[in-house]
Amino acid sequence: MDWRVLGISASILGTDIIVSQRFESVPMNKQLLVRNVPPEICTWIDAQRAQHNMSQQEFVLSVLDQAVESDLELKLPLFASSATVVEKPVPESLPFTFIDLFAGIGGFRSSLEKLGGRCLFSSEWDKYSQKTYKAWYGDTPEGDIRKIKPADIPNHDVMAAGFPCQPFSIAGVSKRQSLGMAHGFKCVTQGNLFFQLVTIIKAKRPPVLFLENVKNLQSHDQGRTWTVIREALEDLGYWIFFQVIDAAAYVPQHRERVYIVCFDKKEFPERPPFEFPKKPEGAKPLLRDILEPNPDPKYTLTPHLWNYLQRYAEGHKAKGNGFGFGLVTPEGISRTLSARYYKDGSEILIPQGGNKPPRRLTPKECARLMGFDEKYQNNLVVSDTQAYRQFGNAVVPKVVEAVGKQILKVLSWKLMEKGCLLKRAETNGHNGNGKAVRKARS
Ligand SMILES: C[S@@+](CC[C@H](N)C(=O)[O-])C[C@H]1O[C@@H](n2cnc3c(N)ncnc32)[C@H](O)[C@@H]1O
Repeated sequence: MDWRVLGISASILGTDIIVSQRFESVPMNKQLLVRNVPPEICTWIDAQRAQHNMSQQEFVLSVLDQAVESDLELKLPLFASSATVVEKPVPESLPFTFIDLFAGIGGFRSSLEKLGGRCLFSSEWDKYSQKTYKAWYGDTPEGDIRKIKPADIPNHDVMAAGFPCQPFSIAGVSKRQSLGMAHGFKCVTQGNLFFQLVTIIKAKRPPVLFLENVKNLQSHDQGRTWTVIREALEDLGYWIFFQVIDAAAYVPQHRERVYIVCFDKKEFPERPPFEFPKKPEGAKPLLRDILEPNPDPKYTLTPHLWNYLQRYAEGHKAKGNGFGFGLVTPEGISRTLSARYYKDGSEILIPQGGNKPPRRLTPKECARLMGFDEKYQNNLVVSDTQAYRQFGNAVVPKVVEAVGKQILKVLSWKLMEKGCLLKRAETNGHNGNGKAVRKARS
């Protein structure tokens, strides 16, 4: 089933409307793609739909329904008869499909849905992350990716995956080395997961891959790990773009991650003009933007732990190591929130003045530090320990959104050029081969 632009399109007061239709044997409803909606209209729609507890689509349709019912005559400069498709460089959203692998708490999903994406499949084996995922997006991811047959994964436009970073991260490597364990691709349990992705890519050929990993993926094992990954993606026939992005431009946290975006050469015979986003203009966010006014006193370090951390840091300093706790004021930005934050919170501590020991961030503050929207911040359904782990492992949704918009730019050019959005379709419970897809557990 394809998305086809029917050629009925217009530009009303700078807002582009493209009318498209999904082609399949049974005629489906037409799809309206509305671009460049003025901010005041978006704000109004968001406020109204929140009030009526409706999705954006449900709300817009119900307004249009009411307009049709009352046969409303619009006093607007209506569709010019000679209207043509106006291509805009960065569309706000497009109706594409995606899958969410190594989904964690859906850092990819929360942003890709905002951009018009529809999630067809997710996989995450940690039961606490599954719990958060279910509470936030309504479905429970499938478990161990190694047990999933590619045939059970629906066809899709974009494969999103923040594959596990432990075997590639510095902490993971040194810990494993000190334990005499293999790491990277020599680590059988985790390193092989990348090749699990390769198997799925081979079978499903997603037109776009959107991957994320720790910064040191590129230097790990003297660059050999990255060489293996790059060569595997090249051998699969993908154009590869990658860049390290520091989330500090989007959230008050120094968090460098490598983002890898690939395009299938079969869909894009020419190297697409993809570019990573430019740094957002304006003042950088600061820690004060995410702090709660009256955090629970339970987040204050005990005098015993605070003394221990100070002594520990002094010991390291004497040995010439920089290792220690990280005090950060509201006017600063934090170090990287790690999955180990639950242990003592030493990497990000907030001073509280006087002789009072500092405090750690609350889980809600961690949600904000990562840039998760308010609806997620206010819906934390696991213990503090699990929440800290989940946020420390997650991708920053605002970076995903910024990179995702750049991907949409390429997809929209494709849409204009081909008249349909790639070749991947919604499945209505079936994959492209007509085989029934296992329903996500819920
Ligand atoms: C780096 S985190 C990704 C986090 C995610 N991007 C997010 O925004 O929350 C990697 C995730 O992969 C999951 N994972 C590791 N091995 C897995 C496997 N074999 N099957 C499914 N999930 C797995 C981990 O539980 C972890 O949540």
